[in-house]
Amino acid sequence: MTVTADSVQATRLDQGPGEVSDRLIASAARLSRNAMTEIDWSEPMDPSKYGCSPEWCSLYGTEMWDELTEEQQIALTRYEFASVMTNGIWFEMILQEMVIRDQYLGEYHSPEFQWSLIEIADECRHSLMFAKASEKMVGASYRPSRFVGWLGKAFMALARNEVAYAAILVAEEVLDVFQRGCMNDDRVLPFVRTVNEIHVLEESRHMKFAREEVRESMEGVGWFRRQFSALIIAIASFAIVTSLHDPKAYSDAGLDRDRAVATRKRNSHFHSMMRTSCVHLMEFLDSVGLLTRPASFWYRRARIL
Ligand SMILES: [Fe+2]
Ligand SMILES: [Fe+2]
Repeated sequence: MTVTADSVQATRLDQGPGEVSDRLIASAARLSRNAMTEIDWSEPMDPSKYGCSPEWCSLYGTEMWDELTEEQQIALTRYEFASVMTNGIWFEMILQEMVIRDQYLGEYHSPEFQWSLIEIADECRHSLMFAKASEKMVGASYRPSRFVGWLGKAFMALARNEVAYAAILVAEEVLDVFQRGCMNDDRVLPFVRTVNEIHVLEESRHMKFAREEVRESMEGVGWFRRQFSALIIAIASFAIVTSLHDPKAYSDAGLDRDRAVATRKRNSHFHSMMRTSCVHLMEFLDSVGLLTRPASFWYRRARIL
């Protein structure tokens, strides 16, 4: 894969986590939002509105999707998006712990330290927003499997530097892909569109910071560490992407769970939506030397490459 003009330009314009943090602090002060006050959580939901754009549903474009009535399709998108958002809570918690640990006894007056606290506060509000949104939309929340939950705990305790920040970046980019795709679609529930809009806006700052941290960590890194980090990041990304759609969300929406899982795994429409949306992420990983051959294997398995 080649490095694009965009990513080269981004590398030139950004001058490390310190300078970028300064700009992000100013931007957050102007533009931060609060879903708890902005959304009327008691407003009744329009039964004709979807939980996400139908095209972003993991079964869209399949025979199984066509067999559903519109009412069932709406229910499916609501449960599915609740699964995506509440799995987002899982990795936002991992992320918060990793960022806190990274800044433990840090330089309190540095822009990097202060920006990190803003990011943690953002994530805390996001997780609360996702919890409220899934509660309102379907009254159900979802978690990764017990094994993946345990892997996440180990990752959160051990990951450092580029491994921590690149995994953060992948998790943020993948969630961003879904939310960006649905935030301007008036077929989607208005409060969910607001949730998506807030998250997309605030995550764009987080992703910028994560990219700077990854770039800085990768400077002068040797072959062995690069290979090892790339592989761990890719396996973590696989666990994140494959956990987004909990099979239980299908049965909660009234579908045959096993058939729905098998259908999603074969759904070329959904895979191509994911791949196309992750092009810039893959270009970035390539530009910093983290898209190695073994890592590419896991990204392909996760259908984001
Ligand atoms: Fe977030
Ligand atoms: Fe974030």
